[in-house]
Amino acid sequence: MDFYTLKRWMYLAVIVSVVLVGCWASVRPTQAEDGHGRDREHERHPVTPARDPGVRGGMPGGGGPIVGLTARELEFFADAKTEFEGAEGVADGLGPRMNLDSCVGCHSQPATGGTSPFVNPQVAFASKDGGTDRVPFFLRLNGPVQQAHFKFKPDGSRDGGVKNTATITGRTGAGGCVLALPDFDAAAATNNLVFRLPANLFGAGLIENIPDRAILANQAANSTIKKHQGIAGRANHNSVDGTISRFGWKAQNKSLLLNAGLAYAVEMGISNEMFPTEREENPACQFATIPNDVTNTEATATPGGLNGIEKFAFFMRFLAPPTPSLTTPGGVYSIGHGRDLFVKVGCALCHTPTLTTGNATVEALSNQPANLFSDLLVHKMGPGLADDIIQGQAQGDEFRSAPLWGLGQRIFFLHDGRTTDLLEAIQAHKNAGNSQFGPSEANAVIHNFNKLDERHKQDLLNFLRSL
Ligand code: HEC
Ligand code: HEC
Repeated sequence: MDFYTLKRWMYLAVIVSVVLVGCWASVRPTQAEDGHGRDREHERHPVTPARDPGVRGGMPGGGGPIVGLTARELEFFADAKTEFEGAEGVADGLGPRMNLDSCVGCHSQPATGGTSPFVNPQVAFASKDGGTDRVPFFLRLNGPVQQAHFKFKPDGSRDGGVKNTATITGRTGAGGCVLALPDFDAAAATNNLVFRLPANLFGAGLIENIPDRAILANQAANSTIKKHQGIAGRANHNSVDGTISRFGWKAQNKSLLLNAGLAYAVEMGISNEMFPTEREENPACQFATIPNDVTNTEATATPGGLNGIEKFAFFMRFLAPPTPSLTTPGGVYSIGHGRDLFVKVGCALCHTPTLTTGNATVEALSNQPANLFSDLLVHKMGPGLADDIIQGQAQGDEFRSAPLWGLGQRIFFLHDGRTTDLLEAIQAHKNAGNSQFGPSEANAVIHNFNKLDERHKQDLLNFLRSL
């Protein structure tokens, strides 16, 4: 008999004795005689449906530097944070096609380095500095930041690339440049348009420093129970050096530096030493030398002379992991019970609570537990989540177990930000296969979750919102 069953029997015994005593001595009603009014209340109203407690308020659980950095590392962090928060203009090489003009615009909730904020900055950005772009239909003021992809090219071959939602047309300093946006309406009409939500960057340096062998050992652990629950999962090995890549919704990017170079070029249109040529080479639209951002070879001091992407990488690498709440929402007892249930129903078979970093050169990142709640593997999630985009070895229906740290203060969920409701995010894990994609690997676990009584589901949701 486990603790909770035992406790329930105890409550039952208390209730029975209260009733017996009541009949026998005909005393007054015995409202809170055992001091456990909460639980008895639940027994009388057993069907209060569990619900997502919503975005956790209070102090942001992230945004600062990780504990243990040296004074010089803290200098790098501070300098790089300013760079990450800075907005670029046409004279800096912004665009000619881009999604926004700063990293922080998309990575800001609940603090710099986080994810999509309540108000989507892409809407106001369309007309910033005289911009004349029409706001694409899917960018809504109170919706998530959206990065648009086309699945296929007009000739039917695979695309998958990011299609920018803004241009420099009409903006200060961009005279003579006229660019049209991709035809998003046509793409939507032919079911060719899919989206990505910004991922959270807190603790990214810990993720970067988890050795491949730790990921593989965790993959091999609990193999019998995983098999029984239908869970496989595999690493996305990058094609360049063959090691495990881990950043992005499909674990498609190897490192923070690579991801920074990519984001600078793709999100902001700033060519750099990692991606040195422009994505849009229309000669009428070039207003800065190329690459737009480079190392200052004349500078004799760091971090000042570093290029932008190195600074971004330092900022993200030194960002502290999210701080969970021990008490909110629901209290210590509920959160603790929810954590146990998270393991018991099988969520932790993909969302591994802790992986440990290796012997890292940066002391603060060395041999540290990363409480990321991810196995960093990609899993087949069924046709309901599949976006039909192939990235590295990850197929159209495969996604990285989303790291759940910081979840309590996130607004939008799943790779395309389709919901703000945790229960919907959980139910979206469950879907049968079709002719194109197999069933979700999470089906059995979600079935286990659905069998929990509402009070226990609530504990699990409280636990998730405490992260
Ligand atoms: C227009 C919004 C937008 C801007 C601007 C933006 N990002 Fe992102 N970021 C995203 C999206 C969307 C993803 C998820 C992409 C994916 O997985 O396909 C992402 C993911 C990332 C990741 C991967 C994190 C992880 O653990 O998966 C990193 C690192 C990152 N961005 C860094 C940056 C940096 C550095 C900048 C500035 C140069 C930047 N981003 C600017 C939208 C944005
Ligand atoms: C088979 C592996 C697997 C299992 C089992 C699993 N998940 Fe997930 N989970 C994923 C993947 C993969 C994603 C990302 C899916 C996507 O965005 O399309 C995800 C996403 C999520 C998200 C959204 C996170 C975000 O940042 O948007 C939540 C919340 C979540 N899972 C909770 C749970 C809970 C609770 C359970 C147990 C009831 C569970 N998961 C079981 C693989 C799994």
